[in-house]
Amino acid sequence: MTTTDGSLDRVVRAREALQDALRGADGVDLSFVEEPLDEHGWAGAPDLLRFLYALVRAVEPRHVLEFGSGVSTLVLAQAAAGLEGTCAITSVDHDPRFAAATAESLGAEAASVTLQCAPLVARVRAGVLAPCYLVDQGLLGSNRAADLVVVDGPPLVLGGRDGMLPQALEYAQCGSIIVFDDAGRDCERDAIARWEKQLGNAVEVHRPDGFARGLAAVILAAPTTAQIRLAPRAVHP
Ligand SMILES: C[S@@+](CC[C@H](N)C(=O)[O-])C[C@H]1O[C@@H](n2cnc3c(N)ncnc32)[C@H](O)[C@@H]1O
Repeated sequence: MTTTDGSLDRVVRAREALQDALRGADGVDLSFVEEPLDEHGWAGAPDLLRFLYALVRAVEPRHVLEFGSGVSTLVLAQAAAGLEGTCAITSVDHDPRFAAATAESLGAEAASVTLQCAPLVARVRAGVLAPCYLVDQGLLGSNRAADLVVVDGPPLVLGGRDGMLPQALEYAQCGSIIVFDDAGRDCERDAIARWEKQLGNAVEVHRPDGFARGLAAVILAAPTTAQIRLAPRAVHP
């Protein structure tokens, strides 16, 4: 089946890229990362970082948007540097200290990354009052929709990721892939299950096995339907 606007093709390509990245991730060499990596720290676990690198190579995005910067930002930028076309990386962090540390770590890759320090605010999205980033649209690395969105913040101690699929969808288009780290934790697992129920066939939720902290990859199949199903309703404090 084909569609006049190519939306089905974009979903099929996203699905294939996801499978390619899952197959190729083990072979990714992270030796360019200078700091020690482990499964339990604040930085992305090695399995996530290898997967993100492989996913950028497979998707060939023009714009990657990340929430929660750090080592993953460097990995995304290194992967993007090997693509034929240009790829802008926008990375958003709530904490000036960690945004500055990320900026310092980027070295030669800094040119492709736009780092934005955005406060966390409480907003109602999809009927849930949850933290989200107060993004300055004028400070994104590209005006294009993001082909790939990586959600690795806000930290649990600041309210977690309960509002983050609705926020990510604001920057996505049909066929965009939204990756959630820590998808094995109760709150992320519950939030993803809730969104899956609300959004139905407007999204495809993939939960590949074998990631130390759990991983979910959401492919946006029907943006308008998703927007309607997530339309905010009033919530009292
Ligand atoms: C899970 S971390 C993001 C990690 C990032 N994606 C990476 O791969 O390095 C989520 C947020 O926690 C904050 N953070 C990072 N290291 C921290 C630390 N040692 N103590 C407190 N907050 C930290 C940063 O603001 C970051 O955006």
